[in-house]
Amino acid sequence: MRKNDLPLSKNKFAPILLKWNKEKNSRQMPWKGEKDPYKIWLSEIILQQTRVEQGLSYYNNFIKAFPDIHKLAKAPDEKVFKLWEGLGYYTRCRNLLATARFISKELKGKFPGDYENIRSLKGIGPYTAAAISSFAFNLPHAVVDGNVFRVLARVFGIDTATDTTEGKKLFTSLADELLDKKQPGLYNQAIMDFGAVICKPAVPLCTTCVFRKNCVAFLSNRINELPVKEKKITIKKRWFYYLLLEYKNQIAIEQRTTKDIWQDLYQFPLIETSTDAVLKNILQLATNKKWLDKNEYEITSVSPLFKQQLSHQLIAGQFIRIKLKRQPPDNNGWEWVTKRKIAKYAFPQFINQYLKEKAGQQSLF
Ligand code: ADE
Repeated sequence: MRKNDLPLSKNKFAPILLKWNKEKNSRQMPWKGEKDPYKIWLSEIILQQTRVEQGLSYYNNFIKAFPDIHKLAKAPDEKVFKLWEGLGYYTRCRNLLATARFISKELKGKFPGDYENIRSLKGIGPYTAAAISSFAFNLPHAVVDGNVFRVLARVFGIDTATDTTEGKKLFTSLADELLDKKQPGLYNQAIMDFGAVICKPAVPLCTTCVFRKNCVAFLSNRINELPVKEKKITIKKRWFYYLLLEYKNQIAIEQRTTKDIWQDLYQFPLIETSTDAVLKNILQLATNKKWLDKNEYEITSVSPLFKQQLSHQLIAGQFIRIKLKRQPPDNNGWEWVTKRKIAKYAFPQFINQYLKEKAGQQSLF
């Protein structure tokens, strides 16, 4: 820090932030200023692992399809999953439905109005509970998300790792201290917007920032070092070989039961490997499972390799289309559906990418 530069006293933080919010924050989002807890909840669940730009159309589509919590609660699973398609992390969608049904039935549609009861709902953690209770009910709970970690770590020069118990405690207690208790909803939205548009992860707008005279990270040239994370993300590589088994204009699909981010979505029968495999070996594995019978099938196409980078895994996948002369002896938990009906099912984004490409070529099978 330079001479005469002082760290910000904590009681100055909220007034400076709120002044910025009033005079300079032009960020618009449909849920901003919203008071209906159902709509706020929906927006926050969508935004949990999704960028605002991506989440916008999903939010609008959900509100249109389900204007209130009873409508969402009454919807069939498949319809909700289909609307969620492409957002990923489907546990969010499952919890959304479970919570909507719980509130609709057990609470007669009335969203809980206090932090503890909101926090106890399925799929709602401390962040989302603070967001809903402050936005909808003006209760004094500070949100602590990636934006808040970044703003506070930089302005106050905190190098405690945010992904440790100690870090979480420290940032949560600082966030509570800084919160404007009279207007917690306004303050919470302001700090998130500030983190998103000014104190951005890469290339933050420091030279015009309202905290530039006191921001420890800016004044000590540590913007790129803060916030600190302890754990390095390890990326797991997975190879997915999907068999598009066709028999008399029908194709085999199955519902995923594995408890992962694609649980409950549909897929084609899958052979997964931890290294890349040649076609001959894939076919052998499928034969061992009795999915294929020697000489009773014909390979009609093999797609190029599709890739998808997720936060913790790198997926490479290939689609192998096979015409069967006979159906396999076991049912394998598959459903045989006509090609026209395929679009009714919700698939992982990965498979949609392939289907879309095929549809673009006017040759969906
Ligand atoms: N991310 C999560 N919730 C948000 C909100 N209410 N506004 C902006 N970004 C968000």
